[in-house]
Amino acid sequence: MGYFLIGLLVVILSIGNIIEEANGEISPRALSQIERMNKRGPYLGVVAPNNFELNPLLASQAYVPYPSLPFIDFAGRRFRFGKISNQRVVIVMTGLGMVNAGVTTQLLVSLFRLKGVLHYGIAGNADVNLEVGDVTIPRFWAHSGLWNWQRYGDGIDNELSLEAGGDYTREIGYLHFSKFNNRSDNLLNRIWYQPEEIFPVTGTPEVREHVFWIPVDKSYLDLARQLEDTKLPQCVNTTCLPRPPKVTIVDRGVSASVFVDNAAYRTFLRTKFNATAIEMEGAAVALVCHQQRLPFVVIRALSDLAGGGSDISNEANLFGSLAAQNSVDVLVKFVGLLSPRKT
Ligand SMILES: *[C@@H]1O[C@H](CO)[C@@H](O)[C@H](O)[C@H]1NC(C)=O
Ligand SMILES: *[C@@H]1O[C@H](CO)[C@@H](O)[C@H](O)[C@H]1NC(C)=O
Ligand SMILES: *[C@@H]1O[C@H](CO)[C@@H](O)[C@H](O)[C@H]1NC(C)=O
Repeated sequence: MGYFLIGLLVVILSIGNIIEEANGEISPRALSQIERMNKRGPYLGVVAPNNFELNPLLASQAYVPYPSLPFIDFAGRRFRFGKISNQRVVIVMTGLGMVNAGVTTQLLVSLFRLKGVLHYGIAGNADVNLEVGDVTIPRFWAHSGLWNWQRYGDGIDNELSLEAGGDYTREIGYLHFSKFNNRSDNLLNRIWYQPEEIFPVTGTPEVREHVFWIPVDKSYLDLARQLEDTKLPQCVNTTCLPRPPKVTIVDRGVSASVFVDNAAYRTFLRTKFNATAIEMEGAAVALVCHQQRLPFVVIRALSDLAGGGSDISNEANLFGSLAAQNSVDVLVKFVGLLSPRKT
């Protein structure tokens, strides 16, 4: 009978727990776990986009999970605790795209005591001088998916809708679809790239500021320069890349919730923005860290030339796993460069 009652209590408590968490608020249980873990902080936040990039980190010998509380699940995300090279880390996977990346990064920085955020993964490449497997660390990130799509017939001298109120601007420039025609005119006219509206923690609530290019943390970038001689594997089984992959600081990365598998748009992103890494989460992580005033850096290994065009056939399939592994290896080396902390 006693066991029955305890069993019943456990069932009732766990139903209560499910209901609380289903509402999205932080349950008292999660809150006390978070408080307990924050006493051990500050941590490095490590943010991966997808399983494809998370799994090689979890499988790496460099990652040692914290045995007595290896993770806290909250809001459909798993926050994993452990160490990489004597640094305490919280690792989280965001899922695909800008909304997932923004939400997950905000949860990470709001729930846990962090000293910085490291984002890593694979990316499409826009620089024909780089190779599959090369690991890029851009100096700046922008969200290239916030647009004002101009009506047909308007030209570059026509004010955009809601431009006068400061919602939109022509300062950053545009993509003109008819430049990509192979026959006659094009009803799609232009899209004008827009800066993101932001509300920094140091600003006045509800008073917007704007940002397009977000710089990564300067001291993280200086440290990353030491990685430029890193040796990375050249072959997957018996298939080898033309040269060993390298780690390289590049000028820019751009992100949008758009999978770019189109050579014309890739070339445009290169010409207009000097972009090298093209992906779907980095700028969201950057936007959150920038507004919360947390240092961050993004490490993205190139998995293919976006839209094709290389002589390595089926390159993303063959070398995608090598690129994911390279991004993990460089992340781990980067963590090793941070000032060691004895425990
Ligand atoms: C433009 O169209 C012509 C005829 O259809 C085709 O031969 C050519 O390859 C096209 N050019 C591009 C850049 O796609
Ligand atoms: C473009 O980026 C490269 C590095 O990737 C840099 O050397 C070059 O100066 C940049 N060009 C412009 C116009 O900013
Ligand atoms: C490499 O070889 C391993 C073991 O034979 C295999 O499981 C894996 O799929 C291969 N990788 C590629 C990309 O062909």
